[in-house]
Amino acid sequence: MPPPESVVPSPAMATPQPASPAIPLTVSLGRLRLPNPIMVASGTFGYGREMSGFVDLARLGGVVPKTITPLPRPGNTPWRTVETAAGLLNSIGLDNDGIDSFLARQLPFLVRCGAPVIVSIAGGSQADFVALASRLDGVPGIAALELNISCPNVSHGIDMGTDPVACRGVVEGVRSVTALPILAKLTPNVTSIVEIARAAKDGGADAVTLINTCQGMAVDWRRRRPLLGNVIGGLSGPAIKPIALRCVHQVRQAVDIPIVGVGGIMTIDDCMEFFVTGASAVQIGTANFAEPIASARLLDGLPAALAELGATGMADVIGTLAVPQRAPCPPATPPSGSSPHAT
Ligand SMILES: Cc1cc2nc3c(=O)[nH]c(=O)nc-3n(C[C@H](O)[C@H](O)[C@H](O)COP(=O)(O)O)c2cc1C
Repeated sequence: MPPPESVVPSPAMATPQPASPAIPLTVSLGRLRLPNPIMVASGTFGYGREMSGFVDLARLGGVVPKTITPLPRPGNTPWRTVETAAGLLNSIGLDNDGIDSFLARQLPFLVRCGAPVIVSIAGGSQADFVALASRLDGVPGIAALELNISCPNVSHGIDMGTDPVACRGVVEGVRSVTALPILAKLTPNVTSIVEIARAAKDGGADAVTLINTCQGMAVDWRRRRPLLGNVIGGLSGPAIKPIALRCVHQVRQAVDIPIVGVGGIMTIDDCMEFFVTGASAVQIGTANFAEPIASARLLDGLPAALAELGATGMADVIGTLAVPQRAPCPPATPPSGSSPHAT
């Protein structure tokens, strides 16, 4: 997705536009209280530092830096991104500097910027998650942890996000070593997202983040090769918004837990669709690549969209979707004279 002309960063665009004070934008995700519901998604905003020339990080509801692991990881072999119709396919493979570098170099910068920092962590086992959470517990400046149990691009990356027992176990393990709010980031690559969300809640998660990328693939038929070095990757961008909305809807209907919606959000209409469907906050992901100031632009547009619904706060909008009751199909009555076996 090449950056459109209109979003080439300019000093004027980087100027902070304070959100209208008329409508309070605060939201709560369990014990995590955010100044507004517009966050940026892990892996699409660097460690925050890289984007701080475009967006005043202090304005955002939350910054989720690139997922960190116990040790630095080089990530997968190229190609690691491929553009698709209405989306982006990536197989970065959790390329990151590791927790030591994050704590020494990235976190202090983020804290100085004044953004609520939600640290995204991942590991190859429950023990890895627990060890990471234990090290982060009590570190000043961390607002919450997001457990990335849904990365499709590393071996065992989604194991804990596809098995309810393992999901509950990892959340419980993290819960036992930290008082920080926990967001469990789930994968859509499952049969029942509700079952996994319920397991996360039972394990002690404050909220679920829905969704990580959808598994996909791109092929160069002339060379008879897959385009991604890792063959299979994760699809993001507008192509997955309907899937993310469906996941938010299903979890909202069945599990009493706050939801952070993420997947294909580019416009304020997209944000509002997620809020009405049941998300208490949203994360902006792939949009950041095409338009680095996307999150600030959406935050600027939020008060007017809320006002359009006559809302006096986020609570007037979140989960207010009118869902028609689906009547069961009446039993088929075969026309008289037809065979009872006709279908
Ligand atoms: C290049 C790229 C890297 C990503 N890296 C991470 C990551 O490190 N951790 C994570 O939890 N999600 C990661 N994601 C997933 C996003 O945070 C988000 O869940 C997903 O892209 C869907 O949102 P979007 O369609 O708005 O991008 C990554 C996505 C992309 C496109």
